[in-house]
Amino acid sequence: MVRLAVLVSGGGTNLQSILDSASAGHLGSASPVLVAADRNCGGIDRADRAGIESVVLDRRVLKRNLSTELQSVLDAHGIDMVALAGWLSILDREFTRVWDGRIINIHPSLLPRHGGPGMYGERVHKAVLESGDHWSGCSVHFVTEEVDGGEILGQERVKVLTEDTPETLAARILPKEHILYPRMIAELAAKLAKRSIDG
Ligand code: GRF
Repeated sequence: MVRLAVLVSGGGTNLQSILDSASAGHLGSASPVLVAADRNCGGIDRADRAGIESVVLDRRVLKRNLSTELQSVLDAHGIDMVALAGWLSILDREFTRVWDGRIINIHPSLLPRHGGPGMYGERVHKAVLESGDHWSGCSVHFVTEEVDGGEILGQERVKVLTEDTPETLAARILPKEHILYPRMIAELAAKLAKRSIDG
């Protein structure tokens, strides 16, 4: 079993899709055992409803010493793999190096288009519309110290329509995220499980 922590800062619809996939037996070796948030948010309520342990970290403490704080929580729960699902605090190099190859994120655009610091939520979809791109979508990628810059593991495409607003585009991309992310989590967990058996 690959013990999965999901890190959230918002409503947590991706978290929900992960939890639902796990209860349907579609998450392979991955087992969500912890939800960590950097603020009180909907994701924590979803964890509570699913009976998954959750922890809210203090953002002021995280700002001073994110790596140690977060690491000690993950260690205390014996976490093997981390999935960011709308997590907004920037992870420092010390932390991303420890988790290299075992931490992934989902981003609502076709990276490397429209990623990087400050590119989250509506801003991403606004940038897509302003750029005149004909396609957008979502990307799952490894997390490295470069925001949204790690290796891309999978993507789903969504056609941009001339009448789209950031809201309508986001609303068509989100359901794709809910399918892509659990699938990518199951794939990486399978690799990590195999690696730990093979030693
Ligand atoms: C998603 O669009 C995800 O791609 C991005 O943050 C958003 C989180 O939404 N990283 P939710 O909290 O999962 O509903």
